[in-house]
Amino acid sequence: MTKEEAAKKAPRISLHGHWSSRMAFVLAVTGSAVGLGNVWKFPYITGENGGGAFVVVYLFCVFLIGMPVMMSEVLIGRRGRRNPVATMSLLGEEEGSSRRWGLLGSLGVIAGILILSYYSVIAGWTLAYTYKSAAGNFAGGSAADITAIFDTFTGNWLEVGVAHTVFMALNIVVVARGVERGLEQAVRFMVPALFVLMLILLGYSINSGHFAEGAAFLLTPNFAALTWDSVLVAMGQAFFTLSIGMGAVMAYGAYLPAETSITGASASVVIADTTISMLSGLVVFTLVFANGLNPGQGPGLVFVTLPLAFGQMAGGTFFATVFFVLLIFAAWTSAIGLMEPAVAWVVERFHKTRVQAATMVGSLIWALGFGTVFSFNVLADVRFLKGTIFENVDHLTSNIMLPLGGVFITVFAGWVMCRNSTADELGGAGPTYSLWRFLARYLAPIAIIFVFLKAVGLLPDLAGS
Ligand code: PHE
Repeated sequence: MTKEEAAKKAPRISLHGHWSSRMAFVLAVTGSAVGLGNVWKFPYITGENGGGAFVVVYLFCVFLIGMPVMMSEVLIGRRGRRNPVATMSLLGEEEGSSRRWGLLGSLGVIAGILILSYYSVIAGWTLAYTYKSAAGNFAGGSAADITAIFDTFTGNWLEVGVAHTVFMALNIVVVARGVERGLEQAVRFMVPALFVLMLILLGYSINSGHFAEGAAFLLTPNFAALTWDSVLVAMGQAFFTLSIGMGAVMAYGAYLPAETSITGASASVVIADTTISMLSGLVVFTLVFANGLNPGQGPGLVFVTLPLAFGQMAGGTFFATVFFVLLIFAAWTSAIGLMEPAVAWVVERFHKTRVQAATMVGSLIWALGFGTVFSFNVLADVRFLKGTIFENVDHLTSNIMLPLGGVFITVFAGWVMCRNSTADELGGAGPTYSLWRFLARYLAPIAIIFVFLKAVGLLPDLAGS
């Protein structure tokens, strides 16, 4: 199909005051991508994995693996124009392989359920922190006071459980009523507002006089200290933060107009997401060094550093409240993307209504979430494999299931689909197309498998490494 034909087939886009479909797509995917992964997870795992070198690996993974995986997901979604399971089986057949590619959709359904089970708990922390901010609990607090607030709160399973329950209930309502669109439109102001608040925090943290230290921790790589396990975590974070590897982006791709550039739309999302993460890292580590905190303290990192900064800032109660409200919205737009594949599947497979499906799936996720709720208190000492229940669920999903999904997605787009189909979706065979095809066929799947094997010690080290 030529560009002109594509333009004729595509739905018309209104020019004034309405959502163009491209904009709607970018907003939906950005809403799914920007979330707790950027503000909460990125700083804390960067701190745990030693900073600079980890960030460099993460950025490489985002651009050289994440970007081609995202483009593959979008092009598969647009070509199939169905839900991920149906799209994969349809294209599997159409491209002369097998309908069994639909099984990939099931991996996504399970990954979404497991990720949301802990994501909702952390979103619950954010809800509670909005309340604590508005109540002025952080005003003038010292590092010790604010650390104590965090420890007392997460140590109380009932409070954390209630917050998790409220967040899951919000999700169930939105997903059941299918009003995601309304929330997606919130992304239009939420992401810029989050960006502005991050800049305010950055201004404040620069004033603390420790900006150089924070920036150095984030940006100066020391590869000697990097382990293969950290490389795996960095790669997992690239998948997690971009919401790729589980079919969420594929589902959104199904609604993308034929003439929209997949490369352009994916690049906008990747850049917005990476900017928010890097800003968040700069702010958090500057505050860590300004207050003599430990960068590797774990999941409480942002919940200690940011309230501490807000507590000392003029107008801090207001800014802190606004910040946490924005973070709830950011988490919410990501959470509906995590829940949607499972709900769509239950609706289609078991012929349930959306309300029934959302309630069933939501209740299951809610119950599973208590594994994470208890990981910070009554079951904190139950440790196996990678640590607590929370740490195991996180490791299994972010570092194994999503990258594995990425292998299948790139193999499908790069090897199973014929050149004509993919070139057609990516706007013809130019240099960008060749680069994508190289990354999707070779670099991404091989790099992912290589990192897996290295991390479990199945590949011998080269001399000196
Ligand atoms: N990308 C989201 C975040 O960074 C999390 C997410 C992962 C959402 C996978 C959907 C799918 O917070």
